[in-house]
Amino acid sequence: MEQHRSHNPNPSHQNRPSAYKREREDNGRNHCENKHSRPNRPQNQSGPSRGQNPHSSLSLSTRRELYERDFPVYKQPVEVGCFSLDSERRFFNDGRQMRYYVEPDRSPNFDLRDGYKDRFIKRDDSVKEKLDHMLRWILANRSKLSARGTTASSCDLDIDFVTWRGHLTKLLTAPYETREGWQLAVTRFRGTLYISEVETEAARRDQENRTERHEEMMYWGYKFEQYTCADTVHGRPDPGGVLNTNEAFCTVVQTRLADHRLLFSGEVDCRDKDPNAPAAPACYIELKTSAEICTPKQRSNFHRFKLLKWWAQSFLPGVPRVVAGFRDEEGVVVALETFPISKISHLIKNEPNCWKPTVCMNFCSDFLSFVKHIATEDNPSVVYLLSWEPRRDVTFSVHRDSPYCFLPHWFVEEMTSSHPSHQS
Ligand code: A3P
Ligand code: MG
Repeated sequence: MEQHRSHNPNPSHQNRPSAYKREREDNGRNHCENKHSRPNRPQNQSGPSRGQNPHSSLSLSTRRELYERDFPVYKQPVEVGCFSLDSERRFFNDGRQMRYYVEPDRSPNFDLRDGYKDRFIKRDDSVKEKLDHMLRWILANRSKLSARGTTASSCDLDIDFVTWRGHLTKLLTAPYETREGWQLAVTRFRGTLYISEVETEAARRDQENRTERHEEMMYWGYKFEQYTCADTVHGRPDPGGVLNTNEAFCTVVQTRLADHRLLFSGEVDCRDKDPNAPAAPACYIELKTSAEICTPKQRSNFHRFKLLKWWAQSFLPGVPRVVAGFRDEEGVVVALETFPISKISHLIKNEPNCWKPTVCMNFCSDFLSFVKHIATEDNPSVVYLLSWEPRRDVTFSVHRDSPYCFLPHWFVEEMTSSHPSHQS
């Protein structure tokens, strides 16, 4: 995984173009408070649906040209733990939901529609879990993460950012995204910045208006996992069983992007069952489905859009390969192909104006610097809401004691009151 190593041994920020931009105009959102103009305002009365519309004084561009510099330092991600969510979405601080990849035959003919009507338990995606599972994992594993030393901050985490891998994937792909915007809520608490996604209005509408065909197609990816994964190292896949999307195995990794120390978690589909496979995350495998490719145009679109998402999602946690099932219109898998993540950038080389890994990583790095710069107040009830729409700059607003608050009381209290050594 070449790109995990430092690609820029002497990173210099001196002569690069700045992506930050001063903005004079109104940013057009339901913003509540401008941090720079009113830093000490005691109570903000506005929530997501109320409030004034003050101007924002800073924004961040997503224009690709600004991020075409040397690849930033991205340390090889290290797995520091894992957790599991069971069929009722209960948290366990262990790997009980880990699955093992079982290589299918060359012509698998998996019917991805099978079981959709009668053997499918779908996770309730109206329940917004925010960072809660990660926070539970942090409390249970705090001693692994705390800063060493004797200062008053010795019980704080030795980490700049805590978030989900999926949120970082959205940052990596933003310079190339033309359809879906995002909103990320940020809270600084005991020196660490927590980033949690807020569903946009557009995403909520899309979810409500999904067609039956779309609903069914969302099942296909999970069904492919069921055809290719076993629950035990010597087991066989059980495609006749019930498919329950509440169940998940998540890795927790630590790494560094430029000068940002990151802790994030992401769902892992399965691992190599070979006992001699390398340690996690290098033994993990990401499973994907995609429409079969029949024309040069389809191939080009696959390279330009799908491989970008696949690369970003797996590169971040250091998952080295994607196994893809290509399916026909009827949802039957007709071919399988393995994509090593380290080879994806070569595959796309001949696409004109294609995405570049360095742009993705530099944008993410600059975004995190931007967040450090604006989210200065250390307070669990303050949320900096960063909003982005394609072809616009990233803007932000500040919200105090608002419905955007996402750090739960149980986490704040435990982090404030007890020392990590009190954890079992
Ligand atoms: P595919 O990616 O093969 O379509 P993941 O690959 O990230 O582990 O996700 C597993 C499956 O969940 C996806 O398989 C897809 O079926 C479904 N899924 C995940 N995110 C989705 C999204 N944003 N929209 C639609 N389906 C999604
Ligand atoms: Mg997958």
